[in-house]
Amino acid sequence: MEVKNNIILALDLMDIIKSFELVESISKYINTIKIGYPLTLAEGLKSVTVFKENFEFNTICDYKVADIPATNEKIADLTFKAGADSIIVHGFVGKDSVAASCDVALEYGKEIFLLTEMSHPGAIQFLKGKGEKIAEMGLELGINNYVAPSTHLDRLSSIRSVLGKDKFIISPGVGTQGGNPNDTLKYADALIIGRSIYNAENPEIAIKEIIKEITV
Ligand code: C5P
Repeated sequence: MEVKNNIILALDLMDIIKSFELVESISKYINTIKIGYPLTLAEGLKSVTVFKENFEFNTICDYKVADIPATNEKIADLTFKAGADSIIVHGFVGKDSVAASCDVALEYGKEIFLLTEMSHPGAIQFLKGKGEKIAEMGLELGINNYVAPSTHLDRLSSIRSVLGKDKFIISPGVGTQGGNPNDTLKYADALIIGRSIYNAENPEIAIKEIIKEITV
């Protein structure tokens, strides 16, 4: 996946009109958006379809899919049917559940992102140290795309070591959660950024500043 300016917009607003206006205002700086539960639960899966139809963007659906295989299949199917290019799936639920999402992605000619570890402080409470094992499982399943945290650089770098340089890692936590863009891009291929852009008084100025800051 080619991510323009290495920035994926986390579109976590809960209003489709405001989301649309935001994306229009910064559309020349990005080509990839991530839609998660805030927008989808507020506006429905049509929010995925609307963005897919109106912008030539990569659309990643961040539904952190974490259920039994049969339910994961249904979630993935509805998501790809709505127009998503990829879906984020939790790794901690184990191989069968992840494989179920991969199989559906394959049917649509799409891909999944495997979530290895989270970026918030509580992430270390139960899951710390499991990211490498999840990454190894992803390699066994032939998965090319991963999510790993920018807020725990030691974890990100360790997960990159397991995956090798050819796998694609996207990394949340830059900006509001404390992650630094350049440090993160030493190990990740793209940054996921939400609040630092959409909560800024002027999102266009905010994204331009971030782009200027990126030197790697
Ligand atoms: O607003 P902020 O830039 O912190 O947004 C980060 C985005 O990445 C949010 O959509 C959040 O749900 C998501 N995310 C994360 N940590 C993960 C996986 C996803 O922050 N490990």
